[in-house]
Amino acid sequence: MATFFLGLLLFLVHPVVVPSRPRFDLKYRIPPHAMRYTLPNNYSSQKIYQPLVFPNGTSQRLPQTIIIGVRKGGTRALLEMLNLHPDVTAAESEIHFFDWEENYAKGLQWYGKQMPLSYPRQLTVEKTPAYFTSSEVPERIYNMNKTTRLLLILRDPTERVISDYTQVFFNRMQKHKPFQSVEEMLIRNGRVNLDYKAVNRSLYYIHMQNWLKYFPLSQIHIVDGDQLIKEPFPEMEKVERFLMLSPRINASNFYFNKTKGFYCLRDGVRERCLHESKGRTHPQVDSTVLNKLHEFFSEPNRKFFETVGRTFDWH
Ligand SMILES: *[C@@H]1O[C@H](CO)[C@@H](O)[C@H](O)[C@H]1NC(C)=O
Ligand SMILES: *[C@@H]1O[C@H](CO)[C@@H](O)[C@H](O)[C@H]1NC(C)=O
Ligand SMILES: *[C@@H]1O[C@H](CO)[C@@H](O)[C@H](O)[C@H]1NC(C)=O
Ligand SMILES: *[C@@H]1O[C@H](CO)[C@@H](O)[C@H](O)[C@H]1NC(C)=O
Ligand SMILES: *[C@@H]1O[C@H](CO)[C@@H](O)[C@H](O)[C@H]1NC(C)=O
Ligand SMILES: *[C@@H]1O[C@H](CO)[C@@H](O)[C@H](O)[C@H]1NC(C)=O
Repeated sequence: MATFFLGLLLFLVHPVVVPSRPRFDLKYRIPPHAMRYTLPNNYSSQKIYQPLVFPNGTSQRLPQTIIIGVRKGGTRALLEMLNLHPDVTAAESEIHFFDWEENYAKGLQWYGKQMPLSYPRQLTVEKTPAYFTSSEVPERIYNMNKTTRLLLILRDPTERVISDYTQVFFNRMQKHKPFQSVEEMLIRNGRVNLDYKAVNRSLYYIHMQNWLKYFPLSQIHIVDGDQLIKEPFPEMEKVERFLMLSPRINASNFYFNKTKGFYCLRDGVRERCLHESKGRTHPQVDSTVLNKLHEFFSEPNRKFFETVGRTFDWH
């Protein structure tokens, strides 16, 4: 019998819909050299993103770093913690630019418009956990800017699968609607059910190979999500170093809330806690199912460790 922590608070925020720009009235003559910046009708094909710079020096710049996943890995916590840094600005919602065709078709201009205002010294970061497991995304990010630094936060694949299941079925459980138990979803004919997408998402090495076709390993920093929950500060120091940020996040930015059983953030006077377990049902997963999962993931995990040249404390 095993219990597990429910993942980080689920922010299922939808991308902001921005109204399309007003059409330019072409009756007015626009000098040819200016056309490049004012092209009204075909900007989705524009490869160049030219943000407007406000008099105070801020602009909406494309992200130089992206948190690519993994779903239920702790991406929201990582983003919030990174956002403690004064030289970081973060997009609040998950943009889904590179993985949703309808967004990708809107082009880099649209993508840039989803970003927060930043000063030139600041890094812009966005997170969309679905990127990691979407096969078309690595090439698209590469095409935007091949120097993009990628952050990937991973947890024990077994716990991630169960957490993934819980997110999807939580509403049904709460509404007392019928749902398949975690055991029914995970095990088919006595074996781990590979047709269940959540299982596939935990096969980290398969997805990682896809990224390594476009980005060197040195450009992908893996955050240990299990460690981040237990001891956030050391993990965040590594992230700062990877992003070449000055060391501004310190241990006093984190404090342990005994009642909740996990860390909360302190940002000057502002304090906030990231988990939300209130009202969540913690399914008890049958131990034989857990053992099957641990056994099932051991080979994929070994392959992943080999791929990234690093091991993790997973079952
Ligand atoms: C948009 O521009 C591209 C080249 O930049 C061109 O190939 C394409 O036909 C244009 N599309 C429209 C709808 O004008
Ligand atoms: C900079 O100017 C823009 C546009 O006027 C404004 O929206 C933004 O809040 C300003 N930012 C700061 C930090 O003053
Ligand atoms: C890619 O990003 C780097 C670092 O932010 C920047 O210096 C460079 O101009 C960008 N390249 C393109 C093609 O946007
Ligand atoms: C898992 O997902 C990847 C990427 O979407 C896909 O290429 C692969 O075929 C899937 N594997 C299985 C066993 O379903
Ligand atoms: C930690 O950072 C905060 C600002 O976030 C600052 O006020 C505090 O002095 C720092 N503490 C140490 C020990 O550096
Ligand atoms: C710790 O968590 C408890 C329970 O959620 C909450 O009532 C309390 O305000 C929190 N304390 C701090 C200092 O965050």
